[in-house]
Amino acid sequence: MVLANFRVIFAGKLLSWGNIGCRRLSAQPGLVELVQLNKIPDDLAKEVLKNFRIIPDFITKDEENDLLGELEPKLRRMRYQYDHWDDAIHGFRETEQMNWNPKNTVVLNRIKAEAFPGEASLLPHVHVLDLADNGWIKPHIDSVKFCGHTIAGVSLLSDSVMKLERETDGLAFIALLKRRSLYVMTDCVRYEFKHSILRNEDSYFGNLKVDKLRRISVICRNEPQEEIS
Ligand code: OGA
Ligand code: MN
Repeated sequence: MVLANFRVIFAGKLLSWGNIGCRRLSAQPGLVELVQLNKIPDDLAKEVLKNFRIIPDFITKDEENDLLGELEPKLRRMRYQYDHWDDAIHGFRETEQMNWNPKNTVVLNRIKAEAFPGEASLLPHVHVLDLADNGWIKPHIDSVKFCGHTIAGVSLLSDSVMKLERETDGLAFIALLKRRSLYVMTDCVRYEFKHSILRNEDSYFGNLKVDKLRRISVICRNEPQEEIS
């Protein structure tokens, strides 16, 4: 990848890559969250900033463990699926969960409050996606039939790289999803950009190799808006 074309978004500000340097980037406690791949115009960059947020360390290690403690017994009973060449996800098992133990309910409520402030119509089931170390998610847009304007996910067990690519013109940016971070994808990013989780071989953030190990995401979505006819 050519670093000269990258611009970095850090703490809500656009910086040029040259000012920051990859090593310093990875050592930053708050960590840079997004890198633009192409030359995204500033007005679009602003929209992207508004509609794709990452909050590092959204959950603590203990909270991660508590979530895993509740999920692992269920997931362990399932097999990873590597089935179909045209499936959006490769090497995964998944489940949905409506009721959580009291500790995890507190965490889920924090995710919901952050990502869906004032929103009443959340999907009642939280989606849990377990990607094997050799699994990945191909570029796709979540069905507008089943999911509304916001998608929010916490990453457990592993860092990973998400790529977002606009359907119409291929403008793209990548996001570093650190373990225990929360991302919130809304409106134009949710509807106009395909998202994917890169397979381990392709998992670079700038020139920083990001080892994608087994990764579990806990994803909240809202109901699609009713069509006005
Ligand atoms: C999905 C998806 C992203 C993630 O399940 O549709 O894109 O963070 N998941 O696992
Ligand atoms: Mn998706």
